[in-house]
Amino acid sequence: MRKTLTSCRKEKIEVVLSEEQIRRRVAELGRQITRDYRGRDLVVVCVLKGSFVFTADLIRHIDLPLTVDFLRTSSYGDNTDTCGSVRVEFDVTQSLKGKDVILVEDIIDTGHTVHAVMDGLAAKKPASLAICALLHKPEREKVRVPIDYLGFTIPNKFVVGYGLDHASRYRNLRYVGAVEA
Ligand code: IMP
Ligand code: MG
Repeated sequence: MRKTLTSCRKEKIEVVLSEEQIRRRVAELGRQITRDYRGRDLVVVCVLKGSFVFTADLIRHIDLPLTVDFLRTSSYGDNTDTCGSVRVEFDVTQSLKGKDVILVEDIIDTGHTVHAVMDGLAAKKPASLAICALLHKPEREKVRVPIDYLGFTIPNKFVVGYGLDHASRYRNLRYVGAVEA
């Protein structure tokens, strides 16, 4: 097939977190969650699409019986800034009533997405609700959200890889990197 100029163009990616750094931290988070949730009725809720890689690795470090569910959001705003109107496009498929729920997010940027998702999940009357995020960009925070389990704090750069995308690409990178303009 003949390649177009745009499909050949590659942005430069600067490594922010290596595969090894991520692997170690995700294993630690899994061990911590295992200690905290022993004997509880745990549901891990993955926010699609960005969190699917993190969730897949994290749950394999949680040594407890658990179930996994998924939801997906959409927001009205430009590509780089989530605005306040976040909508749940599709929702979890099981009852969360009386369950111990951990919401797994790839990155907390302005905080709008997690804030809206937590409101929706709280309305389902779980026994408890916690947030686990791989990345947090505190410089961009507009809404404060309580992060119970955090992988890494990162500077204000647009990052890709390990599930995170730029224009739907780079989700398959094994590391987290910053896109250089
Ligand atoms: P927030 O609502 O502003 O906190 O943004 C959360 C969502 O925006 C994340 O779940 C990501 O999907 C996306 N996002 C924010 N920052 C980045 C980034 O640096 N790289 C890729 N996606 C991002
Ligand atoms: Mg996301």
